[in-house]
Amino acid sequence: MSSVDQLNFSVPRRTLLVTGGAGFIGANFVHHWCTNYPEDRVIVLDALTYAGNRSNLAHWEGKENFQFIQGDICDRSLVDQILQTEAIDTIAHFAAESHVDRSILGPAAFVQTNVIGTFTLLEAFLQHWRAKEQPEHFRFLHVSTDEVYGSLNTDDQPFTESTPYAPNSPYSASKAGSDHLVRAYYHTYKLPTIITNCSNNYGPYQFPEKLIPLMCINCLLGKQLPVYGDGQNIRDWLYVGDHCTALDLVIHQGLPGETYNIGGNNEVKNIDLVQMLCQLMDELAVDLPIRPSQELITFVQDRPGHDRRYAIDASKIATQLGWTPAVTVTEGLRHTVKWYLMHRSWWKSLLSKQYQEYYNKVYLS
Ligand code: NAD
Ligand code: DAU
Repeated sequence: MSSVDQLNFSVPRRTLLVTGGAGFIGANFVHHWCTNYPEDRVIVLDALTYAGNRSNLAHWEGKENFQFIQGDICDRSLVDQILQTEAIDTIAHFAAESHVDRSILGPAAFVQTNVIGTFTLLEAFLQHWRAKEQPEHFRFLHVSTDEVYGSLNTDDQPFTESTPYAPNSPYSASKAGSDHLVRAYYHTYKLPTIITNCSNNYGPYQFPEKLIPLMCINCLLGKQLPVYGDGQNIRDWLYVGDHCTALDLVIHQGLPGETYNIGGNNEVKNIDLVQMLCQLMDELAVDLPIRPSQELITFVQDRPGHDRRYAIDASKIATQLGWTPAVTVTEGLRHTVKWYLMHRSWWKSLLSKQYQEYYNKVYLS
């Protein structure tokens, strides 16, 4: 769905530590990197929480340039050992607790992984970089979110890299805390860190709790499609393949100490997005228990503190690195719906008792 044809530069060989590589964006990034840079080495460190799924990486298991390590980014001695023995020069840091609704139910894990975990990686990478005499090509890419900027009104300008931070949920507050630490390690120690703040991703391998997979799966199961509040909240949808192409450019050409916003240029109201998904389901799925799918749409109690609108101004990465998103929301949603239709055993295996308990807490209590 997206291409690296635009990535026309000479590429030094890298050894990457990809944290959270068994999650949604991390797995897509590993596929992108291993496909496009087969001479690089990719080491995945992932704790395999409920959101991590080693089978997402099955294609690369056993390949010479790929290794999977199960472990926690908060485990300093493990991180030290990996950095040294694998001679890591680049960290692509995706590992996080990532779901806003879970952060409302239980924020502690978010502070632990997102803040303490990022701090642990920074400390370990700083020591490693100094021990190697501070090579110029080392990079620490911190993958963050547009939610750190808070919520926009309908008429507000989109978020730029200089929009003040105003996080509203425990999730976004923990990501904001991690961003500040990453920024400080560049400012204070000149550790070559880069931060990216992206909008809502969608595409293959996204865990069923997030809006788009949840709606696709519920259509196929004939369950209600729960739209929070009045459904007028707006998100800026970014196809995950486009996000990976942007991160690729940032690693190869981004400047240490900089922040880059990455957005899909696809602002859509939630209710409109759910309607689009229903239409795609009606067209592409032969075995829907309820048809038309929009009969399943149910307005439910709003998420506490629900941010109204996110929108990204991605002009900095466009002008400085030449990146623009290639996939429209129409194309990306069609591709994504087809993926969930063709990978039923993938998502069925994730609908565990534990997931059902979470679901009941959010939607039935
Ligand atoms: P995800 O929840 O799908 O995956 C997170 C991964 O991190 C999982 O594989 C999990 O096992 C792993 N993990 C969690 N805690 C860990 C720990 N302590 N040690 C090691 N591994 C751990 O998340 P995602 O949607 O792929 O998001 C990846 C990153 O991108 C996150 O940092 C998130 O904040 C950011 N982000 C996501 C979106 C989005 O729309 N999904 C948008 C903006 C930013
Ligand atoms: O903006 C980037 C962020 O996007 C990332 O930092 C987060 O990791 C990622 O989870 C995502 O956060 P959101 O809260 O925007 O995504 P989510 O898929 O949970 O919800 C998208 C919108 O849909 C939001 O306005 C809430 C609404 N929603 C969500 C669910 C799960 C519903 O109306 N019903 C639902 O059942």
